[in-house]
Amino acid sequence: MSPYSAFLKTFPEYATTGLLDELRARDYARLDATQQVYLDFTGGGLYAESQLVDHYKLLSENVFGNPHSHNPTSQAMTCLVDQARAFVLEYFNAPPGDYAAIFTQNASSALKLVAEAYPFYPGDHYLLTFDNHNSVNGIREYARHKGAEFTYVPVVAPELRLDEAALARGLALARPGAHNLFAFPAQSNFSGVQHPLELIARAHDLGWDVLLDAAAFAPSNRLDLARWQPDFVPLSFYKMFGYPTGLGCLLARRSALEKLKRPWYAGGTITISSVQGDGYFLIPGEGGFEDGTVNYLGIPAVEIGLRYLQNIGVEMIHTRVACLAGWLIQELNAMQHANGQALIRLHGPANLEARGGTVTASFFDPNGAQFDDGRIEELANHAGISLRTGCFCNPGAGEVAHGLTRVVMRHFFQGKALSFQELRQEMRAQFGREVSAVRMSVGLASNFADVQAMLTFAAGLLDHTAEEIGGCQASTETLCSVNRDSA
Ligand SMILES: Cc1ncc(COP(=O)(O)O)c(C=O)c1O
Repeated sequence: MSPYSAFLKTFPEYATTGLLDELRARDYARLDATQQVYLDFTGGGLYAESQLVDHYKLLSENVFGNPHSHNPTSQAMTCLVDQARAFVLEYFNAPPGDYAAIFTQNASSALKLVAEAYPFYPGDHYLLTFDNHNSVNGIREYARHKGAEFTYVPVVAPELRLDEAALARGLALARPGAHNLFAFPAQSNFSGVQHPLELIARAHDLGWDVLLDAAAFAPSNRLDLARWQPDFVPLSFYKMFGYPTGLGCLLARRSALEKLKRPWYAGGTITISSVQGDGYFLIPGEGGFEDGTVNYLGIPAVEIGLRYLQNIGVEMIHTRVACLAGWLIQELNAMQHANGQALIRLHGPANLEARGGTVTASFFDPNGAQFDDGRIEELANHAGISLRTGCFCNPGAGEVAHGLTRVVMRHFFQGKALSFQELRQEMRAQFGREVSAVRMSVGLASNFADVQAMLTFAAGLLDHTAEEIGGCQASTETLCSVNRDSA
């Protein structure tokens, strides 16, 4: 039986996602034309060519001015920004009376809006999961500086799901009448784990405001904000549909927004301000959070991208991603060196229950020595495969995955500042441990051939020793194969 037949036999629902093959041929033809195997959808989504065409058409056929004015070109732009904002809410089924959509630069700047304005005081609490992106971890520094406490809820290897007992203890820490903020990702950008959205209501009932990081979840899962009602939802649009970059969003419950105390005001966020009157009034709702001029020419492209996803149906994308991730995990897990030693150790769930299309693993040789991740990336680069290595800005999940304890990690924060490469080297030298892994992630434009290319590449490591494969050699090497031929 051919690998594809075996795949279809294991994942028959893949056959229902044929539309995505048509789109791959039409809207993502550049992947095959340039022989790129793109497995970094958790890093960034890919845009469809038609999104660019639609955006270009809009820009080339209209004249748009800064939406802060009242002239015709400005009003035309204001209409499109308002329309895109309304469509963002519609896409996430967020009742406009309950939720505001604040345009930001990316998920991180959406998180920073919350971080700097959440009214942390001594006695307040910030609860967060080990499994979080650094931009969520960074909020703890605001909590710390304002005298609030913070507590981390660990995840448990190898599946890297939440430690239920620690979670229950953490959730019990909310003090009545205090400001309590609980942050977790709907989907891990490290392991692909999808943490239960039921946690939102559970935390609310115990007195927490809830920040749900949807950056890695939204690209291939439905987030229905009429059903789930987190207070703050940061996301980046390029992760969902590739283009435009530089635009994200904070979806915020209007009631939660009222609690935030912005530390400053800027052009665009106020009704009036005065130098001599020494005062200002913030615009209520989203307007009070969008500093300066928004990315107004880019914002209509958000609506174009969201409509593109809506026309496909996120359930189909979800099915496709699940089938491809399932096959990748199954086949990688089955790979063994001739002596029976497994090629990989998966960091995350091996089944498809409550997990997305992010697959992270460490690779081992026949003697159980770990291959250098940097070298794997380097070899993958030469095979035209874009994957990612490192800790993916999610140190907490990585520390648990690699068995690194608080004592070990504290050790690296006593002295001089280190780069990630230096941390890797020191960790190896002093503790014989790794801090880095290999991440492969699939998305809307992925197909069976992409996953098969990765499996062929991985099979090429079989029966080689880590010594033979060697360490990452060309840290200065840059693969810069951009096709600039516009003729
Ligand atoms: C789960 C998660 N949260 C937040 C972010 C931050 O997104 P951005 O870099 O677009 O601000 C990322 C980016 O990878 C992510 O995966």
